[in-house]
Amino acid sequence: MRTLLWTLVVIAGVLGLAPPLAVAGEGLALTPPMGWNSWNKFACDVSEALVKETADALVSSGMKEAGYEYVVIDDCWQVDRDASGKIVVDAERFPSGMKALADDVHSKGLKFGIYSDAGTGTCQHRPGSKGYEEIDAKTYAEWGVDYLKYDWCNSEGQDTRNAYALMSQALRATGRPVVFSICEWGSTQPWLWAPGVGHLWRATGDIQDCWDCGRSWGGMGVVHIIDLMADLYPYSGPGGWNDPDMLEVGNEGLTPTESRAHFSFWALFSAPLMAGNDLRSMSTETRDILTNGEVVAVDQDPLGMQGRRVRDRGALEVWMKPLADGSRAVILFNRGTEAARITARWEDIGLFPGGPAVVRDLWRKADVGTFTASYEAEVEPHGIVMVQVTPTF
Ligand code: GLA
Repeated sequence: MRTLLWTLVVIAGVLGLAPPLAVAGEGLALTPPMGWNSWNKFACDVSEALVKETADALVSSGMKEAGYEYVVIDDCWQVDRDASGKIVVDAERFPSGMKALADDVHSKGLKFGIYSDAGTGTCQHRPGSKGYEEIDAKTYAEWGVDYLKYDWCNSEGQDTRNAYALMSQALRATGRPVVFSICEWGSTQPWLWAPGVGHLWRATGDIQDCWDCGRSWGGMGVVHIIDLMADLYPYSGPGGWNDPDMLEVGNEGLTPTESRAHFSFWALFSAPLMAGNDLRSMSTETRDILTNGEVVAVDQDPLGMQGRRVRDRGALEVWMKPLADGSRAVILFNRGTEAARITARWEDIGLFPGGPAVVRDLWRKADVGTFTASYEAEVEPHGIVMVQVTPTF
């Protein structure tokens, strides 16, 4: 899909024609964006102090070095509009204003993100951007915003594609490179229309801090999201990513085993990696999951292909993502309630069945040997074994 889009753009350029589709923010998000977002842990309890302390923690924890870059304030920073229509920031929670806060985040070598909504109000009933797209985009650019998450509550019958294109164009008109995060929860199959409009698009309802729960309003646990992502692998790639929502690693609902599975799948999906926990007080175990460089490298692989399920045996599954160097990232996944042995066969992961390949365990961070035809490992319930398989023939 992405290749086709770029091919059309290049052909049009060579022929001296205008590109068939405007590509927003060219050169941005060539690998999935990484950062932190306030919503999963803090909901409306956002403030200037939280953002500054989180930016500090991103640096001191090693997360910045691991690639986390965007510090994004979700809903609830805005309270009103002034007489000229300009958005008014909550002055009690953000006393220095957004420009000063963006400057502070930038001074730490990080980027600054913010949230709005394509409707008349946000999901928490703060002012939305409908009818104010241009003035809001200009305001964000003045402040130094690098990332906009744009939600879909109170959308009042608008067409998703038009509503998101309007803000995409308003951002582009400012001349500031802004990563544009589309958040209509997969409701109108954004993977079919959002490439060129935004850089990432939510593919599902809101993630919940649980393994397999579901909420009546559409919130869902990690396993349901994994299943909804399974068939979307053709629609993701450099510059435009399927977004299975922000991470719950380090919040209370998942066991360490489930958290590693969650993080591994997001990497296999080439998902945006937006931490959603309190970075100021995270455990060493949480930090070690979020900063596992070998798993992050799978997420950030420059080929940018989304991994997919290649074997389904009830509770036991094999998933595979092709990497730029010809190797394969592989997840052995046990959905069941008892430990089980799972086999990845070379023919299932697209390798010559008779050939030797080096297998590296990405959580043990060690080579486990050279294998021919297949690799088998014991996998904990609700757990994964994640390996990289590199053919040597
Ligand atoms: C929606 C979005 C969430 C979050 C909240 C904020 O539910 O999907 O990610 O931004 O709104 O109100």
